[in-house]
Amino acid sequence: MQHVKTGVNNGVATIEIARPEKKNALTQAMYQAMADAINAAREDAAVRAVLITGQPGVFTSGNDIEDFMQRPPGQGSDGLDSPVFRFMRALLECDKPVVAAVTGAAIGIGTTMLLHCDFVYVSDEARLAMPFVGLGLVPEYASSLLVPQLMGQRRAAEKLLLAEPFGPEQAVECGLANAVLPAAEVVNHARRVAERFNALPPGAVREAKALMRGPQREQVLATIQTEGAIFARRLRSPEAMEAFQAFFQKRKPDFSKFS
Ligand code: COA
Repeated sequence: MQHVKTGVNNGVATIEIARPEKKNALTQAMYQAMADAINAAREDAAVRAVLITGQPGVFTSGNDIEDFMQRPPGQGSDGLDSPVFRFMRALLECDKPVVAAVTGAAIGIGTTMLLHCDFVYVSDEARLAMPFVGLGLVPEYASSLLVPQLMGQRRAAEKLLLAEPFGPEQAVECGLANAVLPAAEVVNHARRVAERFNALPPGAVREAKALMRGPQREQVLATIQTEGAIFARRLRSPEAMEAFQAFFQKRKPDFSKFS
């Protein structure tokens, strides 16, 4: 069963997350497939833009929590050679425009990855959340840097410290997304935006994107490394174990015994 579907059509490389039975939770194999697809899109002269999308009602519920428990990204290397890191690195280094069609719930890395896309269109049924702290973890992939920058410390604290979910209108209002679309239209709209790059000069687009990302690049990479080390340690923490077990036991976690 292919949980990531890829294809190139009319100048657009599409990466469709397709594991609806687990709400599109991302396994290591899926991250690797997504990294490979982005890297292939970079190399393919016929590709002018990349489109990342999900299934009706769900973009992705984030990292597969069972995978987190069974195969946590390595601690010694800060997880920097793990498939999830390879995917995020590929996304960060993609020199072609990346458009996200957020078809529904975007949880954890489902929201984090949007910070590194160039265009984000959200379904009017989408729910977004960065629930890391509630899972005994910390923000990842430079979200501790980029979210406060994007929406200010106050609103970032709601999203990252309280782990409050938010809706599509708020995603636009706080600068995370370009626009809200009816659920049935979000993918086609995002695809049309991606296809606009067929009519633009690819060299200028590439250099403009590099200029837009350039000034912060080193800071983003350094933050990812710092977060990664803490995240890897916290994945093995008793707080995270309690949160993960509570998720699978379909109960609220109990953090009262921790100090
Ligand atoms: N990892 C592993 N399995 C997951 C998952 C994840 N991130 N998200 C959902 N699933 C599984 C559920 O365990 C369930 O499996 P089951 O049918 O074998 O019991 C199945 O997908 C359906 O999920 P369910 O929670 O019943 O669907 P829902 O519609 O009630 O809620 C979500 C959807 C996305 C809101 C909810 O699944 C959720 O909050 N997921 C966890 C998100 C999360 O914390 N991600 C961050 C990881 S860092």
